Amino acid sequence: MRGDPKPVGLEVDNPELFADYAREQWMGGVISLGMYLFDRYVMPDFAFRVVEVTPDNAVMTRTTRVELKTQVTVDTTPQLRYSMKDIIGHEQVKRKCRLVLKYLQEPARFGEWAPRAILFHGPPGTGKTMTARALAQEANANIFLVKASDLIGVHVGDGGRRISALFESARSSAPSIVFVDELDAIGLARSFQSIRGDVSEVVTALLGELDSTDETSGVVVIGATNALPLLDDALRSRFDAVFEFKLPTENERLALLQQYASRLPLPLNADLYQLARRTDGLSGRDIRDRLLKEALHIAMLSDMNEIPSSIIDQVLESIKTKSTPDYMV
Ligand SMILES: Nc1ncnc2c1ncn2[C@@H]1O[C@H](COP(=O)(O)OP(=O)(O)OP(=O)(O)O)[C@@H](O)[C@H]1O
Ligand SMILES: [Mg+2]
Repeated sequence: MRGDPKPVGLEVDNPELFADYAREQWMGGVISLGMYLFDRYVMPDFAFRVVEVTPDNAVMTRTTRVELKTQVTVDTTPQLRYSMKDIIGHEQVKRKCRLVLKYLQEPARFGEWAPRAILFHGPPGTGKTMTARALAQEANANIFLVKASDLIGVHVGDGGRRISALFESARSSAPSIVFVDELDAIGLARSFQSIRGDVSEVVTALLGELDSTDETSGVVVIGATNALPLLDDALRSRFDAVFEFKLPTENERLALLQQYASRLPLPLNADLYQLARRTDGLSGRDIRDRLLKEALHIAMLSDMNEIPSSIIDQVLESIKTKSTPDYMV
């Protein structure tokens, strides 16, 4: 599982629910001995290995019996490890995160005063996901990353089931962080929700889990959104705290440029101070991926042994003319 340094023991309290959940996601698929079944709904990068199957190479149907045998699963992805120190800026967010860290380390101490649900909001690429990962890393907690839109199922009832399965896994492997990304996709204001009944079902299930998760369980829910004003009020009010992620200031852009330029495989021949001034409006991700990475690739294609400032200028110009980000925050 992502963000976890050790194999995870997954305990399932409700085998029936697990069997239902398994049939639903792998129905119609051919199941062979030894294969890995990747979890598509609630646990990204989490896989179950088929240790017994009769008959072999059979198709999973509605009546297939499913049993979880061993309680240990494998970590299949190379880890992207972040620590809080890697996050540039966001001083207030980092300070507030220290409290969450304390809770994850000692949930019992907080009792009813636990910080249980936190909302991250801010423009794309400002470090929300990175911060959640760093927090999990530092607390030595598991992190369950889900996109809110993935929680909406094909059939009525799917969404609710997926959410309870997700929280069940989070509770049984606590301390853990449930990171629900793109919350605006499901947490739309009620007026929009009437269009899709399944969306309000997901929101209701999520609110229910938030309410019923015991304070001492060591589970923290972090929701993330780019569009705070679009969020349904009932959902928004369930969060204990709202952490805002702003676009980087000039000094922060300088630090981002320095941090990422120092990791480039080619030397960057540009005045970073001047570049920091000229990158107003760009996020951390823009600086790393749209500017530095793009410039590196152009230089590499031309077999250069450095990235000249002319290439940086050219890329920056194209970013600026392509789009002025129009964030809804
Ligand atoms: N404050 C920052 N400090 C260091 N690196 C950053 C920062 N902000 C963004 N980055 C870089 O940009 C990448 C993308 O950031 P991240 O995925 O956390 O953004 P996000 O806020 O979750 O965006 P989205 O809203 O699109 O999900 C990070 O992995 C990191 O490399
Ligand atoms: Mg993100």
